[in-house]
Amino acid sequence: MKRIFEVAPWHVTTHEFKPEDKRLQESMTSLGNGYMGMRGFFDEDYSGDSLPGIYLGGVWFPDKTRVGWWKNGYPKYFGKVVNAVNFVKMNFEINGNKLDLAKDTFSDFCLDLNMKDAVLTRSFVVEKDGTKVKFNFERFVSVAQKELSVQKVSFQNLSKDPVKITVVSGIDADVRNEDANYDERFWDVKQINNDSVIAQTKPNDFGTPQFTSGMQSNYVTSMEETNQNVSDLATETTFETDLKTNETGIIEKRVIVVTSRDYNDPTSLVAGMNGLTKKVSEKSYDELLTAHKNIWAERWQQSDVKIEGDTEAQQGMRFNLFGLFSTYYGDDSRLNIGPKGFTGEKYGGATYWDTEAFAVPVYLGITKPEVTRNLLMYRYNQLDGAYVNAKEQGLKGALFPMVTFNGIECHNEWEITFEEIHRNGDIAFAIYNYTRYTGDKSYVLNEGSKVFTEISRFWADRVHFSQRNDQYMIHGVTGPDEYENNVDNNWNTNYLARWTLEYTLKVLKEVSPEQAEKLNVSEDEKAHWQDIIDRMYLPYDKDLDIFVQHDGFLDKDLKPVSAIPKDQLPLNQHWSWDKILRSPYIKQGDVLQVMYDFIDKFTPEQKKHNFDFYDQFTVHESSLSAAIYSVMAADLHYEDKAVALYERTARLDLDNYNNDTVDGLHITSMTGGWIAMVQGFAGMRVHDGVLSYRPFLPKKWDSYSFRQVFRNRIVEVTVDDKGNHFKLISGEPLEIQVNGKPVTLDSLQTS
Ligand code: BGC
Repeated sequence: MKRIFEVAPWHVTTHEFKPEDKRLQESMTSLGNGYMGMRGFFDEDYSGDSLPGIYLGGVWFPDKTRVGWWKNGYPKYFGKVVNAVNFVKMNFEINGNKLDLAKDTFSDFCLDLNMKDAVLTRSFVVEKDGTKVKFNFERFVSVAQKELSVQKVSFQNLSKDPVKITVVSGIDADVRNEDANYDERFWDVKQINNDSVIAQTKPNDFGTPQFTSGMQSNYVTSMEETNQNVSDLATETTFETDLKTNETGIIEKRVIVVTSRDYNDPTSLVAGMNGLTKKVSEKSYDELLTAHKNIWAERWQQSDVKIEGDTEAQQGMRFNLFGLFSTYYGDDSRLNIGPKGFTGEKYGGATYWDTEAFAVPVYLGITKPEVTRNLLMYRYNQLDGAYVNAKEQGLKGALFPMVTFNGIECHNEWEITFEEIHRNGDIAFAIYNYTRYTGDKSYVLNEGSKVFTEISRFWADRVHFSQRNDQYMIHGVTGPDEYENNVDNNWNTNYLARWTLEYTLKVLKEVSPEQAEKLNVSEDEKAHWQDIIDRMYLPYDKDLDIFVQHDGFLDKDLKPVSAIPKDQLPLNQHWSWDKILRSPYIKQGDVLQVMYDFIDKFTPEQKKHNFDFYDQFTVHESSLSAAIYSVMAADLHYEDKAVALYERTARLDLDNYNNDTVDGLHITSMTGGWIAMVQGFAGMRVHDGVLSYRPFLPKKWDSYSFRQVFRNRIVEVTVDDKGNHFKLISGEPLEIQVNGKPVTLDSLQTS
């Protein structure tokens, strides 16, 4: 394990700079406000290895598919979040020599992400050609004004003699996605002048919209403006100042970023950009920063999780919540949560099933229900795309995509696009989860019933009937465990298909006559669904009393992970793909993922037998795995195991467990720490509308406490060595269950 940041409750700080860790540092010091975000790359050019990345929510490009051998039905493009025009760029010269930390000698380096305030700072003292200058950089992406990015740089002359500091700052459109199939730039510059760049994504052959972005800079400084340079792709302004010994200079750069997502014609986009630039220019740096900090303070007030006695666990938890809030806070129902958020390009930046399976449970607990509802609406609004996906496979109904920006599938590996269809069940499950948690049936009985019906139509067409067995089956799928492809009767998929049909029939009984008419499900169709429910094959092994991951699983060479030499892990970096597929090793929860979803529907014996069996083969090489196993382990009172798995999920990126954080943070799995603590350690469940807990305190910890939003209340749960304490922070009194006993919450309760 490699730890490059210090352990502290509210900060991610390092005093060391190692070029080989540069990308890792950039990922871990990313900032975002849901609307846009950026990796923690340097403001100034860095000639070593780095990934300067700025991403704007919902601004993407359909990158034409590139595969070896085309198969019918392959998506034509992979949607990629576009690495935006670089508006952060600010270069510095000392007596005419350009600052470049890849080449310069410097000391007192400090890089600090303050998670409480969402501010990134960097400082160092550089010695160059007989001069010595201390630099301080500070930046934030405002949550008070989503279009605003702010940088403030100060430089103090620590040399014996005066120095001339030159700042060349601007907006640079010569930016490419590192991950581009044909190495093309996704942007064209449409208009460029002294302080702004308007760029548009290139035209495409796929009928997807082009996006325009406008960036306008504005400086606050006492430096003298000495030059202006506008070229085809960049605009630069030069400032100069002479500093006597110990004198300090300051420059502040504010950039307004607008896009065609909010302004539908070029004139209003420019007017909007000018208007916002003017608005923020009337405020001082401190006013802008205070407005930003106050909103972050409110967020933490509502959902901070405190862990006493284990700073590593505390830092991991806050880092995860920080990453989630920076990516999505539910302000824009057109957006979703990409697996890397605004921290990298891998996975294209699109929407995955991760949102429903991993993000929804957390957003339900930490914010108002509207946020989750927005996430559900996102899918409803993309139903047309889901019909296209099903049709591409020759099937009826709706197949929600594995990866998308617009509802159309854009992942082009056949084993995922065509086969990883469990996602359709997970998307249906999220609607049920929302309804179960909030008690609000208005979504499921309206938009949700349409989603359920169309998913059910897909399942009813995707199953086939095996005459020999007199049962329905689903062949040729990939379960969540992507270390196996093209398997028959994946228990997870079959279970979810059956459950969706069952739940849809239940919902259809409750919808209004008008909605029923719109859904137009005939009695024959319902009878057919019922037949599938009654005769769906679910692989089960009587001797082991386990649900079998798929038909062939038990015939594998079932050696546990402990038998694999350590130097061959992680498997995906050491074994051939073919060897992985034939092995029994499980990338992430498959049977256990569904058992987690429906945790109260299985007996303790069933949970134990399945957990004990699958745990020994699981390598957790997906970041989404450990949290689910942690909850299952906690449910079975395997407390040490639950805690070890929590540590893995909560510090996945901080400790770079999977050796891939250079690509960006695992934003959707940042939900894992909260899930493991709240559903695992505190044993939180919602059953028949009743909130219940069955907490334990990890041995290493002195206490933990979290706040949870539940049905118009905020409940605070504290678990320490004296017991479990529940406090109603706001809302009407509430009856909950603690260790199976009813407790009424109207003030501080201890049990
Ligand atoms: C996981 C998928 C997940 C994707 C994006 C993959 O490694 O196996 O389940 O959807 O990452 O997070």
